[in-house]
Amino acid sequence: MTRLDALFDDLTTVKWGPGKKSVDIIDQSLLPGTLKRIQLHTAEEMWEAIKKLKVRGAPAIGIMAAFATALLANQIATEDYEIFVKQCQAITTYLATSRPTAVNLFWALDRMQKLIDESRGQPVSLIKDKLVLEAESIQAEDITICRNIGEIGFSLLSELKGQDREIGILTHCNAGTLATGKYGTATAPMYMALEHGWPGDAMHVYCDETRPLLQGARLTAFELSRAGIQTSLQCDNMAAVLMAQGKIQLVFVGCDRVARNGDTANKIGTNTVAILAKHYGIPFYVCAPSSTIDMATLTGADIPIEMRDPQEVSDMWYRERMTAEQVNIFNPAFDVTDHSLITGIITDKGLCQAPFDKSFLALGLS
Ligand code: MRU
Repeated sequence: MTRLDALFDDLTTVKWGPGKKSVDIIDQSLLPGTLKRIQLHTAEEMWEAIKKLKVRGAPAIGIMAAFATALLANQIATEDYEIFVKQCQAITTYLATSRPTAVNLFWALDRMQKLIDESRGQPVSLIKDKLVLEAESIQAEDITICRNIGEIGFSLLSELKGQDREIGILTHCNAGTLATGKYGTATAPMYMALEHGWPGDAMHVYCDETRPLLQGARLTAFELSRAGIQTSLQCDNMAAVLMAQGKIQLVFVGCDRVARNGDTANKIGTNTVAILAKHYGIPFYVCAPSSTIDMATLTGADIPIEMRDPQEVSDMWYRERMTAEQVNIFNPAFDVTDHSLITGIITDKGLCQAPFDKSFLALGLS
């Protein structure tokens, strides 16, 4: 087994527990110090796992929601379709309240609900089996989708090769294996480079720490360095220095929801990186599975932005509160990068460029 395969094996974010009687996830809130899997059995446990970012990253949230729906539907003790469908609706409605921004959550829940609705007239036991298969398909499709994104991203990296220096890549938050079925989105180009035989030091990935929840420091730097890729960590406010020094040739980031016009919601701080990249003339790419492109949302202004607990900013990583008690705290989990700052959106179906709405439609997204 290669080092990369071992990484993917160890870091499978969501899988079934024994006998498919639970959903088994890595508790990402404990990384990188502790790599621990936990088994979730109840709707409340699954809701809390998404809310508290034990499982996180847009595609992984979608996969989790699908596994949760399948498991909870299998726990419903009835053969009556009408009772079954009502209880399933209650489950999907409840899970949908866990986090508002990543559209993959709603996309996956809608897909599970649609299967239930379209199975009217079939035995409930059969529908339960179909839901398990559907959840597994969502996960398997994500692996292919991210691989396709990775191949396109890898071709961009290949264009930069041969310049007699390592390729400097900046990324923000974690859009890696931990956030998806396998390859990640923003990490997929680098993982594909390894699969294509590049040595890990042909690239140098600079990971923004990603305040306040430190997904870059705790997760991205962890998984990329374990894969053998040359990895550095910097505080979010240091990205401009790296760019000014010519250390960054390109930026890859993930996304939680891309609006029809290309405006992109991603982890707070992404917009700052995009503005910097524009200033320094560095290409800025968003890596987007088609499940994250929301053609029903017209512009970034229509994307709901999650506001999180102020304590994440003031206290979470400190021994004591790091600001005076009376200070108000602003803690949006995401920001929106204007489409004008984005060089390209790498989807599983192809590379999209401005005007993005036309580019998405040309790829068959609707
Ligand atoms: O709050 P998080 O950790 O779920 O935010 C994650 C991100 O912003 C990722 O960049 C995004 O979901 C893409 S994951 C492939």
